[in-house]
Amino acid sequence: MSASVWIFLFLTFGLAGVFADVHFGATEYDDYNAGLYGDRPNQTYHSTDIKSPLFLINTWKKDAVAPGSHIFMSPSVGGQHRSPMIFSAKDLSLVYADPSWDGGATANLQEYKGKKYITFWSGKDYIGWGSGGGIMLDENYRFFANVTTTDEFKTGADSHEFQLTPDGTALVNNYYKIPYNMTPVNGPADSVLHDSAFQEIDIETGEALFTWKAKDHFELHESLNGYIFDADGGGWDWFHQNSIQKTPDGNYLISARHLCMLALINGTDGSRIWQLGGKKNDFKDLSNGRATKFGFQHNARFVDDTLREITFFDNNAEFSHSPTPKCEDACSRAVRVRLDYDAMTAELVQEFYHPKSVQAWAQGGVQPLPNGGAMIAWGTVPSVTEVNAEGETVMELQLSPWGVASGGRNGVSFYRVYKLDYAAYPPWGPSIACVNGTLYVSWNGATEVASWSVFGGQSSAILEAKDHVVPKAGFETAIEVDPSLELAFAQVHALDANGNALGSTDVVNMQTGEVLTVKVQLDKV
Ligand SMILES: *[C@@H]1O[C@H](CO)[C@@H](O)[C@H](O)[C@H]1NC(C)=O
Ligand SMILES: *[C@@H]1O[C@H](CO)[C@@H](O)[C@H](O)[C@H]1NC(C)=O
Ligand SMILES: *[C@@H]1O[C@H](CO)[C@@H](O)[C@H](O)[C@H]1NC(C)=O
Ligand SMILES: *[C@@H]1O[C@H](CO)[C@@H](O)[C@H](O)[C@H]1NC(C)=O
Repeated sequence: MSASVWIFLFLTFGLAGVFADVHFGATEYDDYNAGLYGDRPNQTYHSTDIKSPLFLINTWKKDAVAPGSHIFMSPSVGGQHRSPMIFSAKDLSLVYADPSWDGGATANLQEYKGKKYITFWSGKDYIGWGSGGGIMLDENYRFFANVTTTDEFKTGADSHEFQLTPDGTALVNNYYKIPYNMTPVNGPADSVLHDSAFQEIDIETGEALFTWKAKDHFELHESLNGYIFDADGGGWDWFHQNSIQKTPDGNYLISARHLCMLALINGTDGSRIWQLGGKKNDFKDLSNGRATKFGFQHNARFVDDTLREITFFDNNAEFSHSPTPKCEDACSRAVRVRLDYDAMTAELVQEFYHPKSVQAWAQGGVQPLPNGGAMIAWGTVPSVTEVNAEGETVMELQLSPWGVASGGRNGVSFYRVYKLDYAAYPPWGPSIACVNGTLYVSWNGATEVASWSVFGGQSSAILEAKDHVVPKAGFETAIEVDPSLELAFAQVHALDANGNALGSTDVVNMQTGEVLTVKVQLDKV
């Protein structure tokens, strides 16, 4: 090709919805929170139908955040279902999304038999609970397993938890209904209990190694969610279990929102070994109530194998009654407590409030980070924060305006967030679109693409390298092709950091935008 042939890279960070990976900051704070970009601000792409959140970045101290290449979460975006999403921790651009996995809560990366799997819950969402299974995808995004309860529980795995154990098993939560006599709590004798249960499931065989039901070990009057017959949900959701973790010695740490307590459950007989918080709290509080007086909490985790410290998200309110931001009363926090089993004391180690002070009446999660900090998902408050070990907020994002979510169920809320090291090679190729002579390329799920190399020609059969390589710019890279090239057809190759080809797009007709070859896509299931 002659020297007059040239291609230049055109990058712009203009309007939302036009180019990938737009983020807003301080100057857009008021407009964003006034709803100018919608209730669920989102960005769209040319090369895929996927939508991703249009984040408002309120704080981001890039040098102070913990290591970890990617951020996993499962928000609902625009009109798109809640589904697993992975973002680059470096520039907060989208890396992977698949909205066809309806539900998608608890997106995480977990290990099974020495291999990493993307894990998340998928199924039918009801108000406050779900019915489905825990999905495992392998490192090539291929379906590996759908782990659910045994037939004893017709409603299958609930949306709150899907935790793999080092023993090749998975913990699944369940909500089931049972006819129940409520006279002990001044209810009718012929009511329905919406009880919580969990099972430890052998992933290979699907068999339950352990089954536990809350009603067999706790009493109705311990609930702090007064007797309500919820016709919609079906029965009294008295316990509302929302997290389970297996300990190395074979017991289970659970969190029950409606008892406002965490308990260690004996892995042999299911009895309560101890409980922190709630009506039957076993620990003396060395921190004036800050270690044991919490409410409607989520996501309890022992921080390490010594089982001395626990992190959890303290919603601190059953329903919304204080403003967000500028919460005045019963504000939510992430908590780290230290337990002493000899003295039976509990002591606050750290508590992290949202820098803008918020009240999240439901959902939420906290991931303890190896550096002593934490990633915090603020549940019904549409925000993610990262704190360092000193308690300083080093990152604060919004996924939607404040006002929307504080009202309840119509805003973006999201359940948990994880920062992790991640690498993946999808079995499908990159996608291409051509609009008005500009090429748009993306590769859903690929983590190793560093740049894109343009090929083109007059015939779809003969495409030559145009000797023009452009750096990858976020999820979708826009490549403006000089019209004087008069390229009729184009194809773009993805290169890794060493310039090795990883894959190539279909061929696109530059005039019509028609994509010529249909790539074989591997089925998920
Ligand atoms: C998605 O984004 C568009 C463009 O900013 C906006 O007009 C729309 O309202 C958003 N959708 C929702 C559900 O907020
Ligand atoms: C997983 O299994 C559950 C329970 O049988 C079912 O409801 C759900 O549809 C399954 N999910 C997928 C993706 O097959
Ligand atoms: C768990 O239950 C078993 C069987 O009842 C009992 O032998 C064991 O001591 C209990 N463990 C704890 C830590 O309480
Ligand atoms: C393509 O050009 C048309 C006509 O000028 C314009 O309306 C449209 O917004 C352009 N599309 C893009 C994606 O730039």
